[in-house]
Amino acid sequence: MAVDINKMITNLLDIFNLTDKTIISVGAGGGQFIEYGRNAKKVFAVDNDEAALEMLKENLIRSGLTHQFTLINSDFYLINQHGDVVIFELSLHELSDPALAIKHALTLSPNVLILDHWITSDWIYFIDEKEKVTSSWAALETFDFKKFQHYDTFEFFDDYEELFEKIKGQGETAISRIAEFQGKKQFTIPLSYAIALISG
Ligand SMILES: C[S@@+](CC[C@H](N)C(=O)[O-])C[C@H]1O[C@@H](n2cnc3c(N)ncnc32)[C@H](O)[C@@H]1O
Repeated sequence: MAVDINKMITNLLDIFNLTDKTIISVGAGGGQFIEYGRNAKKVFAVDNDEAALEMLKENLIRSGLTHQFTLINSDFYLINQHGDVVIFELSLHELSDPALAIKHALTLSPNVLILDHWITSDWIYFIDEKEKVTSSWAALETFDFKKFQHYDTFEFFDDYEELFEKIKGQGETAISRIAEFQGKKQFTIPLSYAIALISG
């Protein structure tokens, strides 16, 4: 079940209309959010993890969106592709220097859209990413947000096993934190996320 990604994409498109836009998408591997690219002119999907790009490729084939996307296996800081908007899709907190990443993004495009976990989210405690997410948003304090909105929702799980499958790659701390859900059925974990638009 998990989180309602379509709702997240609708919220993203409400903040910034991506129709006919050239998009540079950072940390696009995995490909959970590809639907935002359906009406775009072109999406340059950047990720430095080859396996994640492979998953993106499979999702693009399944969704009939391959023609819209160009996959780039690279560190974002080295990218020189220009476009209408740079999107960080749940990825800014994973970059080594979020402020530098935004500065670089603003050399590539006049608009930077950030969709990421929000600092009050219970979910980031369970996946052990609270520290990274908090310092990532703090690093953005020097930038003016043209738009900002935060949203509260839930991750839905049928059972502990489904939750375990989702978070097992997050490390031992995350695995120990979800122990309280063992034996539970049909439960939710509150998840908050935010979308910010920075325009240079
Ligand atoms: C949490 S995932 C983002 C979620 C993903 N877009 C999805 O649909 O599931 C973060 C991604 O950022 C990528 N990443 C981290 N640092 C990067 C960098 N410096 N340059 C490019 N990609 C990077 C990771 O490889 C990873 O695939």
